[in-house]
Amino acid sequence: MTDGFDFDRVIDRRGTHCAKWDMMEPLYGVPAGDGLAMWVADMDFLPPREVNEALAAAVAHGIHGYYGDDASLRAAICGWMARRHGWRIEPDWILNCHGLVSGTALCIQAFSEPGDGVVLFTPVYHAFHKIIRANGRTIVQCPLAIEDGRYRMDLDRLAGQLTGRERLVILCSPHNPGGRVWTAREIAELAALCAERDMVLVSDEVHHDLTMPGQAHSVAALAAPDHIDRIVVLAAASKTFGLAGGMTGFAIIPDAALRRRFSVPHQANGASPNRFGMIMTEAAYTHGDAWLDALRRYLDGNRRLFDGGITAIPGLRSMPLQATYLAWVDFSGTGMAEAEILERVERRARIAANHGPAFGQGGEGWLRFNLAMPRARVAEAVRRLQDAFADLQ
Ligand SMILES: Cc1ncc(COP(=O)(O)O)c(C=O)c1O
Repeated sequence: MTDGFDFDRVIDRRGTHCAKWDMMEPLYGVPAGDGLAMWVADMDFLPPREVNEALAAAVAHGIHGYYGDDASLRAAICGWMARRHGWRIEPDWILNCHGLVSGTALCIQAFSEPGDGVVLFTPVYHAFHKIIRANGRTIVQCPLAIEDGRYRMDLDRLAGQLTGRERLVILCSPHNPGGRVWTAREIAELAALCAERDMVLVSDEVHHDLTMPGQAHSVAALAAPDHIDRIVVLAAASKTFGLAGGMTGFAIIPDAALRRRFSVPHQANGASPNRFGMIMTEAAYTHGDAWLDALRRYLDGNRRLFDGGITAIPGLRSMPLQATYLAWVDFSGTGMAEAEILERVERRARIAANHGPAFGQGGEGWLRFNLAMPRARVAEAVRRLQDAFADLQ
């Protein structure tokens, strides 16, 4: 038990239409029987009790029609942003999206034309790449530099890459993978470059609540108030509370003119809310503070255990996470080809982890491991990896 919350409880999710566990074998060839699912960013913990109580009340009522009257939900989101992030927002700045990948796609459609460039700091969340390509835009990859073992945006490099056809920058803040918490200053400098080159800054802050103890997230809209007319913040309760199946996220856009531009594809796509996602989000944002604080401490413990075990293997290096539960491990020091690394991780250790190259330039030689699972499973993963690379020790 961590502060009264049982994150140690192992719950079998196999056979429940759970992408993380039920798609592990088809996608990675890791056996469902004793494999460990450490890929997609989805947690194996129960959410705060009040979330399931709110759903149970909806089920007890029994009729599951269209959702309406979202005033209490908007108030809950405003309360959460003020309490947790020091950001006072107005209810009408919030536009509901069918998850944040969809919200990102709407931003691409709203703020660029086919053929335009969209900037990504890579390696970065793989769905950004897919959604930009699927919308017929061009990805401009600006590789992150590594400084003192952590990622850093190289804005001089980006300035040199820009051709004038780039209409938006998608920032992942905190960054996935690598867990970097961008400082207010870094964000302000990026926003200034966006203003200079007339680009919209889309700040995907879905991991904002999952900072490690002692780390503080900077909301882009607060970090760069001078450029608020070109900032979109994407946020959701989905990663924070493990509610991703609810497919609910929010674009928060303080500037009215930018909001109107976003509304064009938003309306054209007939966006309407997911009833269950809205119910879960409101309950989590209303009752989830103590649960989240305990979760962050627990994840910090998992991170320490995992990193300690990984560092003991010569040639492996885990980037120190400032946020997220997604350990980012560099295998390049082993000198092995990717096929051999995967043979050891997937066949010998029977672990499914995300492959680095899917995150774009700079992901080669890396794997991403999801640590949001009971600690005993993290310990088991460490044991298996140490065995799989035992010849290096
Ligand atoms: C940066 C980032 N944005 C968005 C998402 C997913 O958003 P959604 O499930 O709401 O579409 C993820 C999931 O891992 C993510 O890491």
